[in-house]
Amino acid sequence: MRSGILALAVAVAAVGGVAACGNTASSSGATQTKTPKVGVILPDSKSSARWETADRRYLEAAFKAAGVQADIQNAQNDKSAFQTIADQMITNGATVLMIVNLDSGTGKAVLDRAKSQGVATIDYDRLTLGGSAEYYVSFDNTKVGKLQGEGLVKCLTAKGAQKPVVAELNGSPTDNNATLFKNGYDSVLKPKYDSGEYVKGPDQSVPEWDNAQAATIFEQMLTQQPNIAGVLAANDGLGNAAITVLKKQHLNGKVPVTGQDATVQGLQNILAEDQCMTVYKAVKKEADAAAELAAGLAKGQKKSVDARVTDPTTKKDVPAVLLDPVSITKDNVKDVVTDGYVTAAELCAGEFAAKCAEAGIK
Ligand code: BGC
Repeated sequence: MRSGILALAVAVAAVGGVAACGNTASSSGATQTKTPKVGVILPDSKSSARWETADRRYLEAAFKAAGVQADIQNAQNDKSAFQTIADQMITNGATVLMIVNLDSGTGKAVLDRAKSQGVATIDYDRLTLGGSAEYYVSFDNTKVGKLQGEGLVKCLTAKGAQKPVVAELNGSPTDNNATLFKNGYDSVLKPKYDSGEYVKGPDQSVPEWDNAQAATIFEQMLTQQPNIAGVLAANDGLGNAAITVLKKQHLNGKVPVTGQDATVQGLQNILAEDQCMTVYKAVKKEADAAAELAAGLAKGQKKSVDARVTDPTTKKDVPAVLLDPVSITKDNVKDVVTDGYVTAAELCAGEFAAKCAEAGIK
């Protein structure tokens, strides 16, 4: 019994006083194993299709495989609902909370409240600045942006564009990832603006990654600068908004547009040659890594990870998993299907059947 208590105490210390309640030692010294509980809060279902079509199913499968009971909910872009969901998860016995914040301020409030109740936390995909989660699991987001910048350059070169005016449609100003994406693509584009090879056009962030607002913003951009020749759109939803506007001027396909997330819509826009590229992030790997760490925390273990990121607010290092993103153009759309991220049936529906056949997708 003594060693049982000692082992439990060590486990508690190892994770900073969290998550000891997954396995409780009874007074007789026998260990009663309760299924550990993890709460996951996704941000919304409109800023990108990924959260509901990819993250949810991969997380469900990963937690099931890890023998962890997971409650996965979506805050539907409502910051106060986000906090309420977190509180309910903790009341219902979650010992680990994994969040995709809606912004760092409200995310930090959720993480702080969880911590104060002995609940371990993980930042999933988006880093909560000042938040001090146990782990951050994401992709190399600066590289995501770099791939977008390089993709746009390739498409502009292929079109023989001379001194193209490039518009930038950035992600939400309150999403740290949007900052990292922009750092990445600007590292490619800025030298070209500086040398005069490219002309810097309008550059605007889209609040909350709102696709409808993105269309309004891009419509204004194009009205003010009708000679926009390339669009760096930070994800497939924003890219599609730009494409919709370009279509009205019959400029789709002539003006390359980037994206991210390898959504069905983004991939179809690529097959139609209205979109120049997207970035595929293998969400299965992200979900698997996060679920493994969460399962560990729920069982009182803090597994070690290879990477670290520095939180620019606290200046502290956060243990991290940073996965590798992949650039997708018409030539390798099929890889996303082979990987099981989208099905040929959904991608190749209706008018896309012929385009899929051309791209070798069965
Ligand atoms: C994610 C992207 C997503 C965007 C909008 C970002 O934080 O990394 O994959 O497209 O949020 O939901």
